[in-house]
Amino acid sequence: MKKIVLLASGSGSNAENIIKYFREKNSLHNFHIITNKKDAFVLDRAKKMNVSAEVITKKQNDEGVLLDRITELKPDLIVLAGYLLLFPADIVALYPNKIVNIHPALLPKFGGKGMYGSFVHDAVVANKETETGITIHYVSEHYDEGAVIFQAKTPVAETDTALDVAAKVHELEYEHFPKVIEKLLND
Ligand code: GAR
Repeated sequence: MKKIVLLASGSGSNAENIIKYFREKNSLHNFHIITNKKDAFVLDRAKKMNVSAEVITKKQNDEGVLLDRITELKPDLIVLAGYLLLFPADIVALYPNKIVNIHPALLPKFGGKGMYGSFVHDAVVANKETETGITIHYVSEHYDEGAVIFQAKTPVAETDTALDVAAKVHELEYEHFPKVIEKLLND
């Protein structure tokens, strides 16, 4: 049994999908959710799934609260699943290769500060890209710069809107993110 801390800032559909994936396999892994937003929908999902969850704000991150909680929780893996804050560098230093993020594009394209969620898909469409995808990578002290673990691609049609692209990318995320996490837990 492994302990996995999932961090999400908003909807949390990836967090829910990951937990469901392991539950369907009767895995006994223990999940805990942390969000930086007190009204994030991921909290409703946590309640529905009976998973423990808590709010740790950006201000609290700066005060060391997230570091203290992670130290208490002793996770085997920390998963950023739609977590939109820069992850504190002191935690990154303590957990080398134990923190992973999913980014909704093919890094190094469309990464960096301010490049998250719909902003990424808007940029992909504006740039007339013919393909996009997902990148799962280790977290470093900079946005979207850690070593790449896995990428998957999907075509972008000329007629695709940013919403269409978002839907295609979410499909890739739901298919691959749990499997990559499973592999990392087993390595
Ligand atoms: C996901 O598409 C994820 O890749 C993206 O936010 C979305 C969260 O959706 N993450 C980033 O943009 C990080 N830079 P969800 O809350 O429904 O899982």
